[in-house]
Amino acid sequence: MIGNTKAILTAAREGNYAVAAFNVYNQETARASVRAAEGLDQPVIIALGERYFPTVDVEGFAAMVKVLAAKSSVPVALHLDHAYEKESIERAIAAGFSSVMYDGSRYNLEQNVHHTKEIVAMAHASGVSVEAEIGSLARGAFSDEEEGDGTLTSPSDAKQFVAETGVDFLAAAIGTVHGMYSGEPNINLPLLEQIRSAIDIPLVLHGGSGTPDAIITETIKRGICKINVNTEISLAATDFLKQLVNVKPDAHLSVMMAELENAIVPAMSRFVALFANRE
Ligand code: 13P
Repeated sequence: MIGNTKAILTAAREGNYAVAAFNVYNQETARASVRAAEGLDQPVIIALGERYFPTVDVEGFAAMVKVLAAKSSVPVALHLDHAYEKESIERAIAAGFSSVMYDGSRYNLEQNVHHTKEIVAMAHASGVSVEAEIGSLARGAFSDEEEGDGTLTSPSDAKQFVAETGVDFLAAAIGTVHGMYSGEPNINLPLLEQIRSAIDIPLVLHGGSGTPDAIITETIKRGICKINVNTEISLAATDFLKQLVNVKPDAHLSVMMAELENAIVPAMSRFVALFANRE
């Protein structure tokens, strides 16, 4: 069924679990996300980043996801991940996305509030919910995201930001990175507790890949309701393709793509189960 991000995250918050938001870029990754969610009877969020707009037909992609969602037995919501430009957000809203992330991390707090308020007014007028982030994530290995400076979220800034902008969800920067960790992850759980005490909306964790399962579980206990995953799924897919080319060098592309989709479903299912506390 077609899901609404806000309803999905409100239910997750009440139920003390988190929902996977998989970064997708084509039919195979979108379908695998839905299959993984259906296998565990959990909702899922399909996230397309602004950085993929040059290579993905946004309107065509949204139409495809709507059909996949309508056919699915679980709620499937379409989300715009890390958008820096107002035009991208307008485009996503027009294409029927359920929620958008406005990333104003390049601005100071005051400017970020100013721009985010404008986005919230525009999105809410169309019934679309808004995620924002205070602080930013550093980039680890194999990531395809923008490089952030790794500034952790200040609970007092987060409180002011949420009160002044009216955003629906907040991404908390607590030490996770986009991509795989080079050394030991240094995740600040006490900081997450402070952020949760300061604000009263669902919290989002970016940088799901490579984060130890036990830490993920602790973040969910402390209010994380949505966890973004990109790099680990991409690595599972590219590792599989490299093997496939060796084992079946003459395979037709249609076969390769179908096998690729099958290969990433277990990687996604692992995250869905972990986030649902069902491992
Ligand atoms: P990973 O690539 O670390 O899974 O992070 C994805 C993400 O946070 C996208 O916004």
